[in-house]
Amino acid sequence: MRVLVIGSGGREHALVWKLRRSPRVQALYCAPGNAGIAADAECVPIAADDLPGLERFAREAAIDLTVVGPELPLTLGLVDRFAAAGLRAFGPTAAAARLEGSKAFTKELCHQHHVPGAAFGVFRDPADATAYIREVGAPVVVKADGLASGKGVFICPTVAEATRAVDELMRGRVLGDAGTQVVVEEFLEGEEVSFMALSDGTTVLPLATSQDHKRVHDGDRGPNTGGMGAYSPAPVVGPALHERVMREIIEPVVHGLARQGTPYVGVLYAGLMVQGDRAKLLEFNVRFGDPEAQVLLVRLRSDLVDLLERATAGRLAGASVDWDPRAAVCVVLAAEGYPGAVERGRPIAGVDEVTEAVVFHAGTRLSDGALVTDGGRVLGVTALGDTTREAVEAAYGAAARIHWPGMHYRRDIGHCALARGAA
Ligand code: AMP
Ligand code: GLY
Repeated sequence: MRVLVIGSGGREHALVWKLRRSPRVQALYCAPGNAGIAADAECVPIAADDLPGLERFAREAAIDLTVVGPELPLTLGLVDRFAAAGLRAFGPTAAAARLEGSKAFTKELCHQHHVPGAAFGVFRDPADATAYIREVGAPVVVKADGLASGKGVFICPTVAEATRAVDELMRGRVLGDAGTQVVVEEFLEGEEVSFMALSDGTTVLPLATSQDHKRVHDGDRGPNTGGMGAYSPAPVVGPALHERVMREIIEPVVHGLARQGTPYVGVLYAGLMVQGDRAKLLEFNVRFGDPEAQVLLVRLRSDLVDLLERATAGRLAGASVDWDPRAAVCVVLAAEGYPGAVERGRPIAGVDEVTEAVVFHAGTRLSDGALVTDGGRVLGVTALGDTTREAVEAAYGAAARIHWPGMHYRRDIGHCALARGAA
């Protein structure tokens, strides 16, 4: 089988690394990829949102299966476009990808299916949003409706900050069209967890649980990032809660979308807030999490091509997923300045000395044959261990061998699991 992966981050490197291990994959391409991905796949210089370019390449290279990493090509309709051209792509159609592309769409769908989540209001008029904020009080969360690369969520400890966020989004249009509509919602306390499942439109197969560390500094302080590290499994989700999440959140949404004629095919990622024996939905993503994909894919024993193919063909019923029982931990090594603006092109040392972990590349390129930084999140050092503690130790042992000027990373990845006694 000839496979194309779309994207250029750590998630896509993990996908390529895993697909490369499938005996069914004869040719593997990645568009556009990065320096690490180039070791496992042939990189083609086509941007992830260049839909005509990707379609042309998939036809010319006779690609049998395209695996879409990031959300943007999905919300732009890549899967619809490929289907119309007779090409098979794994991921939701544009209509189903609204689960990530529009927070208002998702809130309303979830409300209709009684999915537990934060109380909310959806507004097109800033005066109405402000009146609602005054009524519910702080703390409160203001979210841009559309895609905003993680910059559209404002956690506001005071009413004044919340009204300022509404002002910036709706009057100042700091995020452009993403802020035409805003969602104002209740602030939820608890422990965040990532719950991913494979869906073929009707059958849903849960993947292993994982947890991400969104804040840039140790102790969950500082600004939000795309994710500074992850681990799997997440001991906060026991069997009873797992069953409840499937029944109350994942299945109602997948079945609801199927009934309205826009079935969901792909990975459905629910960001959950766990409060005791219950979980509330924070958001849906329509793709694998990153860095969560890195810890999931090193634990996945089943053939990924089989699973993705079954999902795109509506044949997940009866399938099962086999996991390595060991724990996996990923520590993200980030560039100076991340999550703000970063300097690129700094030479990276030590990657070849790592033996106890897999180093997934997230933002790297080759410059005159030398590996250099090329993004905010640069590498994801991912290790397995018999316990979470052993995986943490292996990942940090590997991270300590790598260096470039300005590199930084969190020292407490996995702390929630360790605090729960998973060690
Ligand atoms: P989102 O892009 O919706 O996942 O939001 C980004 C991050 O903001 C989440 O991962 C949470 O850490 C936080 N967040 C979002 N919504 C809420 C909420 N209603 N209550 C508390 N934290 C939230
Ligand atoms: N790690 C969070 C995400 O992929 O959205």
